[in-house]
Amino acid sequence: MTGPAVVTTRAELAALLEPHRRAGARIGFVPTMGALHEGHASLLRVAREQVAGGPVVASVFVNPTQFGEAADLERYPRTLEADLEVCAREGVAVVFAPEVAEMYPHGTGDDTVMVRPGPLAKVLEGRTRKGHYRGVLTVVAKLFGLVRPDVAVFGQKDYQQLVMIRRMVEDLCLGVEVVGAETVREPDGLALSSRNVHLDEEQRRQATALSRTLYAAVESAPYGPGPALDAARAVLRESDGVDLDYLEITTPDLGPLPEDPPPGYEARILIAARVGTTRLIDNLPLILGAPRA
Ligand code: PAF
Repeated sequence: MTGPAVVTTRAELAALLEPHRRAGARIGFVPTMGALHEGHASLLRVAREQVAGGPVVASVFVNPTQFGEAADLERYPRTLEADLEVCAREGVAVVFAPEVAEMYPHGTGDDTVMVRPGPLAKVLEGRTRKGHYRGVLTVVAKLFGLVRPDVAVFGQKDYQQLVMIRRMVEDLCLGVEVVGAETVREPDGLALSSRNVHLDEEQRRQATALSRTLYAAVESAPYGPGPALDAARAVLRESDGVDLDYLEITTPDLGPLPEDPPPGYEARILIAARVGTTRLIDNLPLILGAPRA
């Protein structure tokens, strides 16, 4: 198993990708903050499928501008050696693992140009995580500029992030195809997340309430959004240890639902909750007002 080439500077990255670009290869990209788990591995596999023999680039960069609290940034796991093993297993060609100064040569404060994330930064996650999406979209735009991928893969697990990145690509004419890969789950339904390691045994059991809540809504969605939310809330009432932040049904673009969605209307249900001190998010698509096949 040959491992990926690991580079830390813009110049090295450009030099490595240049021959692929000249040969007309399709370049795939999976941006990450490291601490790679099976969910990330699945993104890398989707990227490989997308490029049909072209190189897949993964970035490993803990982006300071998307963290609210300095303590969270410090605490974020850094596991580059293990991450490189995952990348080698998944056939990644290049890992870009820059230092902060390489990504933010003008610093991370007011001297640097940042992306204004638009109205979606104020809903759902954005209500409690001020400035988060400004940081996410800024670093993704920079990484797109450096890697210049044909296709980039993001997980549906961070659904709001995926929708906002699509919107940025459209509004800023970035010319990158964005693919949303399905959430990978534990056998009991818990969505894989780097944060799951913070759950103790009891909290790990309690955390399954999030996916059970969503699946209950999916089951009742044929009866409309009201019954879907009622079914979801019933699961939450019976669950201990889950401190709900939000449970909402939206359009696939995270807008408000139409007043009377027609049968077969495809919507999204999203949940965020704290289990102990760990904040977890999850979401699923659901079809409103249509009998389930
Ligand atoms: O989803 C993540 O891991 C991060 O938000 C991303 C997209 C790599 C940007 O730092």
